[in-house]
Amino acid sequence: MGEKVVLAYSGGLDTSVAVRWLKEKYNVDVITLTLDVGNEKDFTVVREKALKIGAIKAIVIDAKEMFVKYFLWPALQANALYEGQYPLATALSRPLMAKLLVDTALEEGATYIAHGCTGKGNDQVRFDVGVHALAPQLKVLAPAREWGMTRAETIAYAKKRNIPIPVTLKSPYSIDECLWGRSIETGVLEDPWVEPPEDAFAWTKSPDKAPNKPVYIEIGFDKGIPISLDGREMDGVALIQRMNELAGEHGIGRIDHIENRLVGIKSREIYEAPAATVLLQAHQALEAMTLSKDQLRFKQKVAIEIADIIYNGLWFSSQNRDLSAYIRSSQRYVTGTIRVKLFKGHAMVVGRTAPKSLYNLSLATYDKGDKFDQSMSVGFIHIWGLPVAIQAQVQLLSDTEGPLSIIAPKKQLKGRPKKRKS
Ligand code: ARG
Repeated sequence: MGEKVVLAYSGGLDTSVAVRWLKEKYNVDVITLTLDVGNEKDFTVVREKALKIGAIKAIVIDAKEMFVKYFLWPALQANALYEGQYPLATALSRPLMAKLLVDTALEEGATYIAHGCTGKGNDQVRFDVGVHALAPQLKVLAPAREWGMTRAETIAYAKKRNIPIPVTLKSPYSIDECLWGRSIETGVLEDPWVEPPEDAFAWTKSPDKAPNKPVYIEIGFDKGIPISLDGREMDGVALIQRMNELAGEHGIGRIDHIENRLVGIKSREIYEAPAATVLLQAHQALEAMTLSKDQLRFKQKVAIEIADIIYNGLWFSSQNRDLSAYIRSSQRYVTGTIRVKLFKGHAMVVGRTAPKSLYNLSLATYDKGDKFDQSMSVGFIHIWGLPVAIQAQVQLLSDTEGPLSIIAPKKQLKGRPKKRKS
């Protein structure tokens, strides 16, 4: 028996070719590992294909529950969006894959793990850093980064060895899917001026073809985690799947992002993330009710940090652990229900309720029952504005630049045209 490699196997062209290439180049026995993270696929077919191409063993793991519990919900609680746009679907799935690749490699006594990433993307970083962190004794092989074949050469390589070529190859796009979203790259999309053609989308209806009647949904949260839809309790996987269908039907969750990759390239990325888009919006709406102004402000900064950690392949870092602890703690009263209207490409929060809400009607109202003592505002404002008043008198009023210069009284007098008697 030779040395073994565990290959992350999607069933696509590159990883299928990799099964054979690894054998030919490194003389290793290939075990494929395919993970179900919510990508619609017939996994029996994928498994059989791996064996047919020459894998000695083909493993399929349903990782959806793990993915939701340990990756998607924490990212939602953090409101993680890379560069304010990308909900990080692919980026969140890679550390889970790295972990399961490592577990499998250790169980199977493999010396290598392998993945099908090229040398230009973020995914290679996420896989490699994850594996190096979890099991530094394992070596990482990345065939597509090494072999230097063009797409046409890869196809020729496959044909020559009778490796089945996927029908999806007809699609001009490179696609990656999981519960949290779908990414679409390459082809005409590489021209940032070109509007994504309709055939780039598969999960969302075009907003102009979406139903003419809005739909209202109620999402129940417990400590920042969605637990029910329209009053019906649902497990996380089912809830996200249902939200993807519902919001997708209404054309919600299309994202067109000029993205800064970790490897220094700007790339044009199209995403469909119906469930993530609505859930992130609803979650933030509930936080607006239950967190203080200071918590909300600070949490926004942490969200940027966490999004970068996830994007940049640093999931297994102490920085992530520490910031996640803050996020978890911040969610203790983020419980309640958010009402969202889905209509023609937009999700709009139209209602919110929370048992520990900080919204206080008797303070906010302009109607009967107002408990806010308006006379107290006078003293408050005097002290609040004291430093501004003093500084303005001493420094700002004679300034020739800055906020007061345009209305400095001297200038105004000088510039005023004299009235002439006629
Ligand atoms: N740009 C996104 C990211 O870096 C999506 C990557 C999609 N990956 C893929 N192998 N097609 O997370």
